[in-house]
Amino acid sequence: MTEECIFSLPYMRFLIDGPTTIHGSISVAGAKNAALPFLAASILLDAPLEVHRVPMIEDVHRMLEIAHRLGIAIDAVAPGVYRLTAAGCTTSELPADLTPKLRAAIIFTGPLLARWGSTVLPQPGGCTIGQRPIDLFLDGFRAFGVTVTEEAAGTRFTGKPRSARYVFPLVSVTGTETLLLLAVRTPGVSVLENAAMEPEVTALAQLLQSCGAHIEGIGTPTLVIRGVEHLSGGVVTCIPDRIETGAFAALVAACGGSLEIRDCDPTQIAVPLKLLEDMGATIATDATAGVIRISAQLPLRAISIRTHEYPGLPTDLQPPFTVALTQASGLALVHETIYEGRLFYVDKLNKMGANITLCDPHRCLVAGPRPLHGARLESPDIRAGIALLIAAACATGRSVIENVYQIDRGFERIEERLRDIGVRIQREEEGAHQPSAPIALPDSRSPQGVVGY
Ligand code: EPU
Repeated sequence: MTEECIFSLPYMRFLIDGPTTIHGSISVAGAKNAALPFLAASILLDAPLEVHRVPMIEDVHRMLEIAHRLGIAIDAVAPGVYRLTAAGCTTSELPADLTPKLRAAIIFTGPLLARWGSTVLPQPGGCTIGQRPIDLFLDGFRAFGVTVTEEAAGTRFTGKPRSARYVFPLVSVTGTETLLLLAVRTPGVSVLENAAMEPEVTALAQLLQSCGAHIEGIGTPTLVIRGVEHLSGGVVTCIPDRIETGAFAALVAACGGSLEIRDCDPTQIAVPLKLLEDMGATIATDATAGVIRISAQLPLRAISIRTHEYPGLPTDLQPPFTVALTQASGLALVHETIYEGRLFYVDKLNKMGANITLCDPHRCLVAGPRPLHGARLESPDIRAGIALLIAAACATGRSVIENVYQIDRGFERIEERLRDIGVRIQREEEGAHQPSAPIALPDSRSPQGVVGY
């Protein structure tokens, strides 16, 4: 086994020729933000955890690499199915070279502390969307009796956790997941108040419960956890990715056309769908079948939007929705309430012909409809990246999107799937002067340390 990561898409750039009218049917992948805490949860279990419908994306592969370095045995059972066995988990320290690449690596600290009574967190990954502080994690761990010290290697957490009541001063998704993972194996009754209610948190709590954890209040802001000494293994399936679902719906609202979105859960994006309906899109949902049918005749109507914790409009959908608003009639205020750095991509949309005024780091005004034209762009983060891709699909002419690693972090084989619904997109390798043929993924793709498929 080499130390080099053997999973790698040829990242490079996307070439997109617009404009596009969307048509056809697309399937939604498993949720990235459900898969990541599931993988971390395996550390707490006495027997293997088999995770199904894992999206084959870069962030998941980084998380698997970290799990491998912690001593967790990983078997790739089938495409998108991983079995994790933590019996050989030998170290409590997160790897200094990999952790900065992935903010979600911080989730491992909860189970590592529960298992070993100590862990070291090197500076976790951030991105361009804001500062991504970790003060809530430190505060929460201290409430559980853990000592926090800053060292050259990172933040060291030590001490046997004891049950606690912790009130989150603001809602944090991974903060809730991390303390939940700590509390399920901490003796006594712990209470997490103002906990995040995102479906990914609920899915994690349900997984833990299926392994023998005692958790009350799942899906509410108050989680009451009675710690147990042992948790069994289990089998879990990732919930559908609601952000991907919403991004596909926003693609239709930006480009026009109609789309059947399959293998999704419409109930988990009720607010985003309502907003698109208010803009004039026609939407039909079938929750039992997991299908959304959406059609849009441009221009739609502009409406103001505001991001909010679940069940509100997710911040992760703000960039795709902002692109859709550039094609809608009227003036819209976009209010990003969660991150202070998540609107800076709008200058890239203006470069394409949009008329967006940044009022302050949290608000911008979008005047539409404005025809967009192709441009050379750089993807700053996962969600702004997919937004630029949507903008390129509705723009006239060729766009080139660089740094597509950022898009590959969250969206599986996105160019292949978008091609099926009418987007003219290709992945071009470094050094190629002409658009290359569509690139087939190598069968051997697999993150470092993963055995099997
Ligand atoms: N915050 C603090 N201190 C902390 C932690 C968070 O001030 O210690 C602040 C953040 O700066 C932010 C707010 O609290 O302003 C909410 O952040 P949260 O902790 O909920 O974010 P997260 O848990 O780090 C998850 C998702 C993000 C998603 C946010 C909000 C995962 C792995 N990541 O991040 O997803 O934007 O919740 O819903 O679940 C993405 O998928 O592209 C992504 C960024």
